[in-house]
Amino acid sequence: MPSAVHFLTVRMFSLLLLLFFYLRACHSSPSMHRLCHDEESHALLQFKQSLVIDESASSDPSAYPKVASWKVGGESRDCCSWDGVECDRDSGHVIGLDLSSSCLYGSIDSNSSLFHLVHLGRLNLADNNFNNSEIPSEIRNLPRLFDLNLSFSVFSGQIPAEILELSKLVSIDLGLNYLKLQKPGLQHLVEALTNLEVLHLRGVDISAKVPQIMANLSSLSSLFVMDCGLQGEFPMGIFQLPSLRFLSIRNNPHLTGYLPEFHRGSHLETLKLTKTNFSGQLPESISNLKSLKHFDVAGCNFSGAIPSSLGNLTKLAYLSLSYNNFISGTLHWLCNLTTLNSISLSQTNSYGEIPSCLGNLTQLADLYLNHNKLAGQIPSWIGNHTLFISLALGSNRLHGPIPESIFRLPNLEELSLQENLFRGTVNVGLLRSRSLVSFQLNGNNLSVIGNINDSVALPKFQILGLGGCNLSGEFPSFLHGQNHLECVELGENNIEGHIPKWFMNLGTETLWNLDLFGNFLTGFEQSVDILPWNNLRYLRLSGNKLEGALPIPPRSIINYQVSDNRLTGVIPQAICNLPSLVILQLSNNNLNSKLRQCLGNISNSASVLDLRNNGLSGDIPDAFSSDCTLRAIDFSQNQLEGKIPRSLANCTKLEILNIEKNKINDVFPSWLGIFPKLRVLILRSNRLHGVIGKPRATFEFQRLQIVDLSGNCFRGHIPVQLAQLTFLAVFNVSHNVLSGPIPRGNQFDTFDNTSFDSNPGLCGKPLSRKCGNGEDSLPATKRDEGSAAYPLEFGWKVVVMGYASGLVIGVILGCVMDTRKYEWLVKNYFARWQR
Ligand SMILES: *[C@@H]1O[C@H](CO)[C@@H](O)[C@H](O)[C@H]1NC(C)=O
Ligand SMILES: *[C@@H]1O[C@H](CO)[C@@H](O)[C@H](O)[C@H]1NC(C)=O
Ligand SMILES: *[C@@H]1O[C@H](CO)[C@@H](O)[C@H](O)[C@H]1NC(C)=O
Ligand SMILES: *[C@@H]1O[C@H](CO)[C@@H](O)[C@H](O)[C@H]1NC(C)=O
Ligand SMILES: *[C@@H]1O[C@H](CO)[C@@H](O)[C@H](O)[C@H]1NC(C)=O
Ligand SMILES: *[C@@H]1O[C@H](CO)[C@@H](O)[C@H](O)[C@H]1NC(C)=O
Ligand SMILES: *[C@@H]1O[C@H](CO)[C@@H](O)[C@H](O)[C@H]1NC(C)=O
Ligand SMILES: *[C@@H]1O[C@H](CO)[C@@H](O)[C@H](O)[C@H]1NC(C)=O
Ligand SMILES: *[C@@H]1O[C@H](CO)[C@@H](O)[C@H](O)[C@H]1NC(C)=O
Ligand SMILES: *[C@@H]1O[C@H](CO)[C@@H](O)[C@H](O)[C@H]1NC(C)=O
Ligand SMILES: *[C@@H]1O[C@H](CO)[C@@H](O)[C@H](O)[C@H]1NC(C)=O
Ligand SMILES: *[C@@H]1O[C@H](CO)[C@@H](O)[C@H](O)[C@H]1NC(C)=O
Repeated sequence: MPSAVHFLTVRMFSLLLLLFFYLRACHSSPSMHRLCHDEESHALLQFKQSLVIDESASSDPSAYPKVASWKVGGESRDCCSWDGVECDRDSGHVIGLDLSSSCLYGSIDSNSSLFHLVHLGRLNLADNNFNNSEIPSEIRNLPRLFDLNLSFSVFSGQIPAEILELSKLVSIDLGLNYLKLQKPGLQHLVEALTNLEVLHLRGVDISAKVPQIMANLSSLSSLFVMDCGLQGEFPMGIFQLPSLRFLSIRNNPHLTGYLPEFHRGSHLETLKLTKTNFSGQLPESISNLKSLKHFDVAGCNFSGAIPSSLGNLTKLAYLSLSYNNFISGTLHWLCNLTTLNSISLSQTNSYGEIPSCLGNLTQLADLYLNHNKLAGQIPSWIGNHTLFISLALGSNRLHGPIPESIFRLPNLEELSLQENLFRGTVNVGLLRSRSLVSFQLNGNNLSVIGNINDSVALPKFQILGLGGCNLSGEFPSFLHGQNHLECVELGENNIEGHIPKWFMNLGTETLWNLDLFGNFLTGFEQSVDILPWNNLRYLRLSGNKLEGALPIPPRSIINYQVSDNRLTGVIPQAICNLPSLVILQLSNNNLNSKLRQCLGNISNSASVLDLRNNGLSGDIPDAFSSDCTLRAIDFSQNQLEGKIPRSLANCTKLEILNIEKNKINDVFPSWLGIFPKLRVLILRSNRLHGVIGKPRATFEFQRLQIVDLSGNCFRGHIPVQLAQLTFLAVFNVSHNVLSGPIPRGNQFDTFDNTSFDSNPGLCGKPLSRKCGNGEDSLPATKRDEGSAAYPLEFGWKVVVMGYASGLVIGVILGCVMDTRKYEWLVKNYFARWQR
């Protein structure tokens, strides 16, 4: 074995020799490394002096003021040894400056000494606060720059054209500032800087198309252009760039595009298209993206089937396909993706059971499967899977009991099981995760139990959904001490009595949504002028037994619903002064004062004003301002009198007006016809009188779908013009004093005789009474010009078939006033009316 020993000795010797030279080389001796140049040292110090150190200027937890150690004299006077400074070994010139997260605060202007460092190749000033400085055009003095990072450091304004002169740039990060890239634009940048490998412009206001030429940047490996206001169609060629590894274009809602066929050899690791307007299908060939780890297309407009070939992407760690238009499918293709730690497949039309093979995905921490059609029970392996942080299975068809083991998951932050068919009893005392902030069980057939002893060990909830959870008649005492509450749903729980004082003291700064709908609450234990939750935005107290005066919400309120209670007295002045109010619903109470004039005040923020069925009297305030935002007004079933106020004409966004069953004494408000969006007009059972004038212009009443003028004293001839309202679905002029032929055509052919009942003078179809001497039903098509065309100059009343109480406004309170809701409403009425 001597030769082996010899060999080893020689090896060791040569290693030692190498080490010796290596150490010599590293321990800088003056002869081997030049000191920094005085003018650069000076420039650096001047730069330091032009700024202040402010801890709050950086947000990285490891941030510290690197420049603090920069000194003029002494041992450390060589600027090449300063923290964040990098020098060229041979020339001694400063070639790199990394002052990221250095707590720098202040402005950088055009004479900043920074621009004297003309040898800089690398400049990183990220995560500081440059106080909305513009990027000075003197940046052109740094022609050797190849890596520029100014991200997240409060720069603002237009990115200067001079940056295009820095032709050596390979990496630019200007993201998370207040910058614009418009003159020059993205196209100019890409044309000038053809060596780009990294282009990060997150949040830069580009507001333009992505130039086709971007697909020529053959070295591009990382492109971040999220939140940039991108438009037009995204050049497909970019996906196929040979070096591309990271692509994020998310949050550009007007950016359209399609995914190409993918080929083998792609290096794509990250693909984020979230909240863009991408459509088409996910190609089967996506399985060729062998390196893909992060794939997120949530909130796009993709359709077709989810390709099962996604199941071949065995490196995937993050997958989100939520909120698209996929056709239905099961989840079995997920089985082999054992490296996944986050799955989001919300609203993907998924059906079937939650596959048991998901139990093999041992890295899984987030599972979002809400808003699907999943059936079956919660698989028992879920409770064994201690990594779970988010488990969202809400709005499915899951049934059975909830395995208790789920409540013991130690790291859970979100557990959403609402809107399923779960049954059984849930004891909140079993909850083990201290970090659970979102806990939602509402909309099942569960009984939630727990008592004040449990309250000590419970996590601090922020979102708590316990609507319809059979809480036993009283406010759940386990909520004692829950002072982080933000969103609380306790509706339909048969809770009786007062809202207790201890609950009123919870979340006074944090609570923004409180829903106590459909209980038997009678009031508040502690009387207060204004409800104590200072940041409350949504409050629903409807369907209780609240008595006494109307509770006044805080000024932050946006949506206040307290209908169907037993409230009495006045609408307090304070209600008029809620600056953010959008929905005010006080219907079906016993409020019995005069209507306050000041209610007009809220017309410039509110969308919905529902005072239906109270005892309100007096005139409707003539105080709707010129910036009126109201979309729905329901003053029906009160004692209101006087005229329909003319200032209502300011409410050009109005879609629904219901003032039925009051004592309004006015002529037909033909001026309402100018409302371009009016769809529902209900004036029945008032003291309206006179002739219904013909619309003065063809656009008038254009969108009307429901008109009810019955039970008034209108007289005269029909409103042929109305027949051209192609939206009109429900129409009723019964019980007036109308005469003449009924128009024909369009929707009018679909109304039956009940629409025209009890108008002795009316004739023509659908009534059996024929019109005399050629006066037969008029074609409803253009018979314009002149009153001769309107023999039925109407005194009609329209639609009548008993509106279900609150239905009209209920549709609007569905929150979104979208067309589909109207269609539903109209269909609903129409169906009733045909019966
Ligand atoms: C920051 O900008 C404001 C407004 O331009 C200015 O008043 C203030 O002096 C600036 N602060 C510093 C430290 O430059
Ligand atoms: C830059 O110029 C402004 C005037 O334009 C001056 O007030 C400021 O002191 C100068 N700063 C430096 C660092 O020279
Ligand atoms: C720029 O610097 C910030 C802060 O250090 C860092 O998070 C970011 O990744 C850098 N950008 C690039 C493109 O390296
Ligand atoms: C971009 O690439 C396309 C095709 O690869 C080529 O035809 C075109 O000339 C290139 N444009 C520029 C400006 O280089
Ligand atoms: C999305 O694209 C469709 C056409 O595919 C277009 O009709 C729609 O308006 C676009 N949506 C947005 C938000 O730009
Ligand atoms: C989705 O795409 C379709 C056409 O493919 C388009 O009509 C629709 O408006 C798009 N939806 C959205 C929300 O942009
Ligand atoms: C990819 O998935 C499809 C469908 O699941 C399968 O048929 C195919 O064999 C897979 N290809 C590879 C390369 O794994
Ligand atoms: C999972 O991978 C195995 C091979 O590793 C393959 O046979 C099987 O078809 C794959 N299953 C799915 C659902 O893709
Ligand atoms: C889970 O993985 C094991 C091997 O670890 C395998 O035998 C089993 O078939 C897998 N189960 C499912 C349902 O895929
Ligand atoms: C859950 O874990 C327990 C104990 O470790 C084990 O007995 C049981 O089989 C596991 N259940 C499932 C469904 O994996
Ligand atoms: C709710 O569950 C109880 C038993 O736990 C059952 O009697 C009742 O019918 C269920 N209700 C519904 C609506 O399923
Ligand atoms: C509309 O509002 C303005 C200002 O609030 C008011 O002066 C005007 O009279 C209103 N218009 C009508 C038709 O009342």
